[in-house]
Formats: sequence, C-alpha cells, structure tokens
Amino acid sequence: MRQFPGIAAGIALAASHAAAGSSVASLCTVSHVQSALPANGTLLGIDMLPSSVTATTTNTTSGEYCKVAVSYVHTGTTDEIVLNYGFPSPDAFKNRFYVAGGFGYSLNSDVTGGLEYGAVSGATDAGYGALTGTTVDEVNLLGNGTINWDPIFMFAYQGLGEMTTIGKPLTRAFYGLDDDAKVYTYYEGCSDGGRQGMSQVQRYGDEYDGVVVGAPAFRYGQQQVNHLFSSVVEQTLDYYPPTCELAKIVNATISACDPLDGRSDGVISRSDLCQEQFDLTSIIGESYHCAATTSTSLGFNFGKRNDGTSSSTTPEQSGKVTAQGVAVAQAIYDGLFNSNGDRAYLSYRIGSKFTDAETTYDNTTQTWGVSIPSTGGEFVARFIELLDIDNLSTLDNITYDTLVSWMDTAMTRYMDTLQTTLPDLSTFLSSGGKMIHYHGEADPSVPTASSVHYWQSVLDIMYPHLSSSEAQEKLKEWYQLFIIPGASHCASNSLQPNGPFPQDNMATIIRWVEEGVQPTGLNATVTEGNYSGEVQSLCQFPKRPMWKKGAWECVADEKGAETFQYTFPAFKVPVY
Ligand SMILES: *[C@@H]1O[C@H](CO)[C@@H](O)[C@H](O)[C@H]1NC(C)=O
Ligand SMILES: *[C@@H]1O[C@H](CO)[C@@H](O)[C@H](O)[C@H]1NC(C)=O
Ligand SMILES: *[C@@H]1O[C@H](CO)[C@@H](O)[C@H](O)[C@H]1NC(C)=O
Ligand SMILES: *[C@@H]1O[C@H](CO)[C@@H](O)[C@H](O)[C@H]1NC(C)=O
Ligand SMILES: *[C@@H]1O[C@H](CO)[C@@H](O)[C@H](O)[C@H]1NC(C)=O
Ligand SMILES: *[C@@H]1O[C@H](CO)[C@@H](O)[C@H](O)[C@H]1NC(C)=O
Ligand SMILES: *[C@@H]1O[C@H](CO)[C@@H](O)[C@H](O)[C@H]1NC(C)=O
Ligand SMILES: *[C@@H]1O[C@H](CO)[C@@H](O)[C@H](O)[C@H]1NC(C)=O
Ligand SMILES: *[C@@H]1O[C@H](CO)[C@@H](O)[C@H](O)[C@H]1NC(C)=O
Repeated sequence: MRQFPGIAAGIALAASHAAAGSSVASLCTVSHVQSALPANGTLLGIDMLPSSVTATTTNTTSGEYCKVAVSYVHTGTTDEIVLNYGFPSPDAFKNRFYVAGGFGYSLNSDVTGGLEYGAVSGATDAGYGALTGTTVDEVNLLGNGTINWDPIFMFAYQGLGEMTTIGKPLTRAFYGLDDDAKVYTYYEGCSDGGRQGMSQVQRYGDEYDGVVVGAPAFRYGQQQVNHLFSSVVEQTLDYYPPTCELAKIVNATISACDPLDGRSDGVISRSDLCQEQFDLTSIIGESYHCAATTSTSLGFNFGKRNDGTSSSTTPEQSGKVTAQGVAVAQAIYDGLFNSNGDRAYLSYRIGSKFTDAETTYDNTTQTWGVSIPSTGGEFVARFIELLDIDNLSTLDNITYDTLVSWMDTAMTRYMDTLQTTLPDLSTFLSSGGKMIHYHGEADPSVPTASSVHYWQSVLDIMYPHLSSSEAQEKLKEWYQLFIIPGASHCASNSLQPNGPFPQDNMATIIRWVEEGVQPTGLNATVTEGNYSGEVQSLCQFPKRPMWKKGAWECVADEKGAETFQYTFPAFKVPVY
C-alpha cells in the first residue's frame, strides 16, 4: 500500500465524491496532486516524480484554474520530462481533456486552451525545454553528423502521447472520478500542430475521442524539402520572376477562375475546374504594377534558430507578364518530377500564392535572384546533411533529382518519427475515435493535395475490399476531410478575403463524440465582402461545391476530385 499512494487516494476520493462542490483552490494543493498521480508501475515505462509537483491557483478571463507542473522519467533513465496541466474548477469541469498542437518546430506550451470547453489541458517540455520555447531544430543534432534522437521521437509523437496517457488518470483522480470514468479527450491543431494531431491518431489512437487537424505538415521528408522546389524551378528554367510578376499571375488566375464555381465573389471555390479550364499562358502580356516596398516577412516561423523572419526591399515594378514567368508558375503548380519523368511530389493548387518562389532584388546589379526559403534550407542543412548550421548557403548544382534524393533520404531516415503518414488507423477506429481534417484550397505552404493523398491512403488501407464509394461511406462515419475554398495556410487568404473559414470546429467534434451527431458538412463563415455573415457548410471530399440557384451545393465530380490525387513513382517504397 505504501508504494501506491496515488491509487489509494484515488479510490478514497471517488468513494466520497470529494470534488463535488469543492473550490478549485481546495483541490489545487501539492499533496492532493501528488496523491492523484498514476503510481509507478501502472503506466509502462513511466515513473512519476512526486517531489517535483507544484500547484498554483490562477485566474484567467476564462475562469480560475489550477496550474500544475509535474515531472516524470522514462523507467531506467534519469532525464526528467516536465508536464504542465491546467485543471478548471470542479463546477466548470465537463469530463473533458484537451490537447492543442504547436506549429513549425514547436510544441504547444499553453494549458488554458481547454478552459472554455470545461476541459483539462496539458503540455509537455518533451525533455528538451519545449515549455520554455526550445524548438526541436535547436536540439536535433548533438554535433555535426550526430542525430539527437530522443528529442526527435519526443517531438514526433511520444511527448504528447505520454502527456495525454498520464493526464487522463491524473484528471480522474484530481476530480475524484471512478478509475473507469469517461474523460472525453480532444485534440486540435493546424500546420505542424496538424501533423502532431495525426501522430496521436496514428500512435495513440485509443487515447483520443475527437480530433480536429488542419493542414498537417506531414509526409515530412517530402514536405520540408518541397519548400525548395519553387527556387529550383527558377534556377532550372533560369528565370527569377520579379515578385510583382508572380503576384500578377496569381491575381489574374483568381479573377479568371472565380466564376467557375457559379458565383463571382472573389474566391476560387473550384481550383479543379480552374486547373482543367484555365490556361496560364493567357496571362502573358498583361501589365503589372507594384509600388516599392520594404517589408518584414514573418515567414512561417519555422523554428527559432531561423524563424523565417526576413526584411526585404523591392523597387517599384512595372512590366508585362512574360512567357518565362508563366512557365515558372506552371512548373511550380505541376510539381516535382525526376529526370526520368516520374512524379516525386505534388504541389500547391492553381491560384495559390507563390510564397516559396519569392525572389530577392539586388539593387546594385538591379537584377532578381534566388532566395532560399528558410523552411526548406534549414531542413536540408540540419536534418538531411546533419550540419549544425542554420541555412543552405547556395542552391548551386541542385537539380530536381537532388530534391528527390533529399526527399528519399529524409523519408527513410525519419520514417518512424517525423514522416507521420501511417495509414492504418484501426486502433483509433475500434476505440470509437472521430476525426475532422481540413485544409485550405490555396495553401502556399503545405500543399492541399497532401491532405487528400493521406485521406486516400487511409481509405485504401482501411477498406481494401470495398468499392471506392462504399469505402468513402464507411470512412466518413469516423474520418471526414474538408477543403476550404480559397483559404491559405491555417488561415483565410488576403488575396481571396471573401472566402469562408471554419469557426466552430470544436463544437462540431464535441457534438459528434458526445451526442453522436455525425457531421454532414463543416460550418465555415464568410467575414468579408458581399456575402459577409454567410455560413457555408463545406463539402466533404471528394464532393465539390457549386453555386446553384442561389445556394451552395456539394456535387460529385470525379474528374474534378482526381485533380487532387497523385501517385509518386519516383520512390520505390509506398508513399502514404
Ligand atoms: C517512481 O519512480 C521514480 C523514479 O524511480 C522515483 O523517483 C519516485 O519516487 C517513484 N514514485 C513513488 C511514488 O514511489
Ligand atoms: C480570482 O478571482 C476571483 C473573483 O474575481 C477572486 O475571488 C479570487 O480570489 C481570485 N483568485 C486568485 C487566486 O487570485
Ligand atoms: C493583387 O491583388 C491584391 C488585392 O487582392 C492587390 O493588393 C495587389 O496589389 C495585386 N497585385 C498585383 C501585382 O496586381
Ligand atoms: C459586391 O457587390 C457590388 C455591388 O453589387 C459589386 O459591384 C461588386 O463587384 C461585388 N463584389 C464582389 C467581390 O462580388
Ligand atoms: C540599395 O539598398 C540599400 C539598402 O536598402 C540602400 O541603402 C541603397 O540606397 C540602395 N541603392 C540603390 C541604388 O537604390
Ligand atoms: C538562406 O540562405 C540564402 C542564401 O544565402 C538566402 O538567400 C536566404 O535569404 C537565407 N534565408 C534566411 C531565412 O536566412
Ligand atoms: C559543423 O559543420 C559546419 C559546416 O561545415 C561548420 O561550419 C561548423 O564549424 C562545424 N561545427 C563544428 C563544431 O565543427
Ligand atoms: C557546381 O558544379 C560545378 C561544375 O561541376 C563546380 O565547379 C562547382 O564548384 C559546383 N558548385 C558547388 C557549390 O558545389
Ligand atoms: C452551423 O451553422 C448553423 C447555421 O448557422 C447553426 O445552426 C449550427 O448550430 C452550426 N453548427 C455548429 C456545430 O456550430
């Protein structure tokens, strides 16, 4: 008994319903939290350190909560991993646990995100200081050529998985619930937070009841190297388009393709029809003009070592769209092929911004030249070449085949950590998990079709013997994919600002999990333009939207859906 104080205290609390009517402050004590910790031996490989517990009652605008810190070690090791949890007051608690995703190379460090849902939230330092802002790209090497695997595994999936595995019994014991009481467990995140969510569905499928993931930065080997593809296109075609020329190509594409969905509202809701019907060469000769700018771009905040922040100056630009500019744009939208003509990867949808393709202006020579996006440059330098430096210094001699070989190396090396594309979700399915997966149709950072490819892989692996329509009917009972017309990376799009964006995903997933209401669409609200205030019900892929007789309909268009679907014969192993 002496060895298992946690279990003993948990039973005692459950029997007396000690939490009911308690204030958060009365539960928020070191001794109560210590008594609620899962005992050593109950979670394989995890030893809690009761002496590390701190507990502080804290006020926020969402109410009072108990902020707890506690550390654990992996059995047989001494490296401490710090966890933080935020417990809402007992009268606000709705038997829920909430996990939020981070972004870039970061994990989430906030434990107040669940308060509005009556949920306990958790966060982990993953053993490398993630709670205090250390990003995994700061610690992925022990030295040139030596990978520091512990942080990579912890960042890839293990850190969040353990935080949740520990957090659920801790939550039950904290509030005095029975050991088998249901604690509805939710995940929400976008970008790398989307990848982190997919890692939980794939590796800890029985821990999560409801998962909302956006634009997951998964298929890591391909995804991160792909950030260099646009620059390599420019180098290969030997044309570095002025920034204004590419901006004009995007604007002209949006104007031309906006009406194809049946409504002229400034939004391409059917990039598939745009791809089938619009010829980029028709833009050649159109005039463009941009004022001079000095801008500080925040990039996508990929890591702290090199957060993508860059200050750039562009001169006033006037000109006409060239055939070379259009050729660069077309090659970028087409995606990466090796020199044998085999497809290696997919790309951004037509009408998306050319963020990766942005060139820099040299005002001494008055020419445009290559700019290596930090997202891709840092990944190749640190995770593929294994050099303790921040960026690639040059793309000299880098060809499409080099990119394919980098992708192959990274996919193989990080197959069981960062790649995050295991398509067998049987554990998640059999424990009743539900997932909403969304992706902006004009995402310029993680290609929209990347999400479609994973969805298709899950469909094929989970239902190999069903026809595709039967398989889709089965899949949507627990996993639904929504494409958001015109939207950018995890956000609305400044070039298509009248597009819809989802605002209440958590309400939708909670209703699905707790009330069994399977979504038939995903609410997305228009916040600008003539249709401001409209709530669109987004179509479940592969259905596509069409404006008919004054309303959006979801139509079946197999040919349209196929424009999102790719295979990658450039790789010999299956790419899920
Ligand atoms: C659990 O194991 C850790 C590491 O061995 C130890 O420090 C800790 O005191 C143990 N916890 C209890 C409650 O015995
Ligand atoms: C939090 O705010 C409430 C109401 O304003 C107050 O009664 C309580 O003492 C505060 N708690 C802490 C820990 O500051
Ligand atoms: C593209 O359209 C945006 C408004 O949507 C405008 O601010 C920008 O100047 C345009 N760029 C070019 C090159 O036409
Ligand atoms: C909004 O409505 C006005 C007035 O009908 C029209 O002139 C304008 O083109 C519309 N804008 C968009 C983006 O549909
Ligand atoms: C080139 O840019 C630098 C730094 O922004 C500026 O100081 C300089 O005046 C510019 N030169 C020309 C010729 O525009
Ligand atoms: C990475 O290095 C290249 C080449 O020196 C440079 O063009 C690019 O701006 C750098 N990126 C960042 C974010 O430092
Ligand atoms: C690691 O390699 C880089 C690139 O070759 C080099 O600049 C750096 O000095 C090396 N670091 C050490 C500690 O040797
Ligand atoms: C690129 O290739 C040329 C010719 O083989 C060689 O001279 C040059 O050093 C290479 N550049 C880099 C950066 O490797
Ligand atoms: C979706 O929007 C409709 C119409 O605005 C609303 O009635 C419904 O409650 C919303 N669903 C969710 C889950 O928020």
